[in-house]
Amino acid sequence: MNDRLEQEHQAFEAALAAVEDEAGLYRLQVAYLGKKGSITGLSKQMGGLSPDARKSLGAELNRVKAAIEAAIEGRRTALSDAARARDLARIEDLTMPPVQPPLGTLHPLTLARRALCDTFRRMGFDVAEGPHVEHGAYNFDALNIQADHPARDMQDTFFVAGTPGTPRADAELVLRTHTSPVQIRTMLDSRRSPPIRIIAPGTVFRVDDDATHSPMFHQIEGLYVDRGVTMADLKATLLQFTAAFFGRALQIRLRPSYFPFVEPGAECDMQCPFCSRFSGTCGVCKGSGWIELGGSGMVHPAVFESVGLDPEVYSGWAFGFGIDRMAMLMYGIPDLRLLFDGDVRFLRGFAS
Ligand code: FA5
Repeated sequence: MNDRLEQEHQAFEAALAAVEDEAGLYRLQVAYLGKKGSITGLSKQMGGLSPDARKSLGAELNRVKAAIEAAIEGRRTALSDAARARDLARIEDLTMPPVQPPLGTLHPLTLARRALCDTFRRMGFDVAEGPHVEHGAYNFDALNIQADHPARDMQDTFFVAGTPGTPRADAELVLRTHTSPVQIRTMLDSRRSPPIRIIAPGTVFRVDDDATHSPMFHQIEGLYVDRGVTMADLKATLLQFTAAFFGRALQIRLRPSYFPFVEPGAECDMQCPFCSRFSGTCGVCKGSGWIELGGSGMVHPAVFESVGLDPEVYSGWAFGFGIDRMAMLMYGIPDLRLLFDGDVRFLRGFAS
């Protein structure tokens, strides 16, 4: 028995010398000292020995076991010291520039809206905002569009149900069809009194859908209210705006038109800023020389009355232009729907 024990010990020493890592060391420990290990197996055979032989083998077994345990422990420490030394010796290059996360680009509509706001701000206008879900009273009634008015059909929209049990749950709520209700909110705002000079960019909604009409699109509203404001102020402001925005003087054309909240009302066109750049027929204005901006006119007395301003004292102009079509013109985008498809190949073209 003692000879077998000595053979096992020598075999262990040889195997230990070949161990290269922690996992190998663990396998060796299990092979010799584990439940089914060879040293453990020898100790189980002691039962059949004489008391003297058992005593002498027991002492020998304990000595060899202790020697194996110490050898394993020593090797484990040596292996982890070597791993740590390898880690410390690794050289990190702290001067490497950090990896840049991929950044998106601003949407062409955001670029157009910011450029418009910057231009009007420099001309002394504040930027005002209103909610997308609007009171029917502000979107229609206060703007002189009565419940049975045909103009209401032209801007048929998405109606929103109020929450039952809340105050005014049965009040009409709509996804606003234009930015004009911001006129009402601004004039009702007790912190503001004439002179009022605001622009209000934002999202609006209608039941429309084709290459130049989207169910969700963007407008920019303009409103100027003071004593003695005339249509000439509107034209002068638009002339100044287009000159500042496009970098050169452009003509403005007002064509009579009807909107219930202005009187007189006009469709507003500007001289095509691209024609001089193109020879032959201009692809942007289709050779007409004019580009439609949107509706405009003098604030209707009924609108002033609905917000408690005296139309005998105050007058004002307003306009509402589509931003999406302006962005299409600015960037030569052929289909309005490209603006809302979210195709990154298209959007990457606007990297600033
Ligand atoms: C209005 O919405 C009036 N609130 C404008 C206004 C304001 C008139 C103040 C007078 C005083 P209109 O429905 O024409 O008017 O729309 C204005 C502009 O929005 C249009 O000229 C067009 O550029 C744009 N537009 C209208 N419908 C759509 C649509 N479905 N998709 C994209 N752009 C649209």
